[in-house]
Amino acid sequence: MIIGVPKEVKDHESRVGIVPSGVKALVDAGHQVVVEAHAGELSSMSNDDYQQAGAEVLGSAADVWNRADMVVKVKEPVPSEFKHLRKDLVLFTYLHLAPLPDLTDALLKNTVTGIAYETIRDPHGTLPLLTPMSEVAGRMSVQVGASYLEKEKGGRGVLLGGVPGVPPAQVCVIGGGIVGTNAAKIALGMGAVVSLIDLNLNRLRELDDIFNGRIYTLASNSYTIAKATQHADLVIGGVLIPGASAPKLVTRAMVSKMKKGAVIVDVAIDQGGCIETAHPTTHSEPSYTVDGVVHYCVTNMPAAVPHTSTLALTNATFPYVMKLARMGVTKAIQSDNGIREGVNTFKGNVTYAAVAQSQGKPTKNVSDLL
Ligand SMILES: NC(=O)c1ccc[n+]([C@@H]2O[C@H](COP(=O)([O-])OP(=O)(O)OC[C@H]3O[C@@H](n4cnc5c(N)ncnc54)[C@H](O)[C@@H]3O)[C@@H](O)[C@H]2O)c1
Repeated sequence: MIIGVPKEVKDHESRVGIVPSGVKALVDAGHQVVVEAHAGELSSMSNDDYQQAGAEVLGSAADVWNRADMVVKVKEPVPSEFKHLRKDLVLFTYLHLAPLPDLTDALLKNTVTGIAYETIRDPHGTLPLLTPMSEVAGRMSVQVGASYLEKEKGGRGVLLGGVPGVPPAQVCVIGGGIVGTNAAKIALGMGAVVSLIDLNLNRLRELDDIFNGRIYTLASNSYTIAKATQHADLVIGGVLIPGASAPKLVTRAMVSKMKKGAVIVDVAIDQGGCIETAHPTTHSEPSYTVDGVVHYCVTNMPAAVPHTSTLALTNATFPYVMKLARMGVTKAIQSDNGIREGVNTFKGNVTYAAVAQSQGKPTKNVSDLL
């Protein structure tokens, strides 16, 4: 199979779909890989790295898309890339089609097989290609929060770990899933006092065991959240209700009672945020202040650390790339339930029910189309 890796063109996107080690594994397995020049540059992976791994580096995006049987990307194609879509192309990337009818129509019109990272499920029912970015954002949330607690950045001038004779900062993490657990790990490692709030008591039991009682686990309700946020120097929002907007667990009234110069990092902002005063921000203007509390609400936090994020993402995506290349798309869809759930468009049909539903389109079962 010829696998193509174009440079990402979406604003501020600095990750790349396949890293040099992946190129080597594909080439060793007898496939060809064509990479657009400078595709990995922002993730600190040079054209030379790709060439040495066995890729052919091509000068233009059009050459990559035209030569490839399967294109592996990070973000969904933006309108300037629609012209590259063509019959029989396999596209493996984050697609997030539900709010994107134009892209969906372009994929359907060109009968592209669109396999979306975000809908692939593993045998445990989790979404393995979303997990790595939650790990990155969770760990980064503490690093960002610690930085905004500095006076220069508008914070109350508190060092997360304190020093001998001075107490550490109090970190309140809301949501004990991937983001929350990774945030708690880093906050604890930096010496903060950490409390973690979740609705799921079994999850709290697991976390109590994982952290060996070194964090306070709290059952989620508005009384507890009000108390915990009032005492916190740093609040991290990592709540998720799959498929729904995040619930506003921290109200404006609670924010107004927080310490002046405290910091909120609402990681859940990509689902609307779990803090009432949060609104989406960008890496160019990441923060703002409400009632003296600094808010950081960047929707694509992993983009700030593209080297780590690219490696984390491709560690998770690459086994699927290899399987698709080795078996071909039809056999891979037939034999792998996870890949089958990833197929959002196939032979001119929407094959993922939630996407079809949100756009008022009919849906077909991909197995019936093979
Ligand atoms: N901003 C970014 O760059 C970025 C990056 C990655 C992930 N995210 C987002 O972070 C959010 C969390 O992701 P995740 O992978 O950790 O999800 P997850 O499913 O692993 O964890 C969510 C947790 O929230 C808990 N929860 C649900 N309702 C609650 C409530 N009322 N009170 C307390 N806890 C509650 C759940 O029990 C679960 O433990 C998602 O919205 C995800 O899209 C954002």
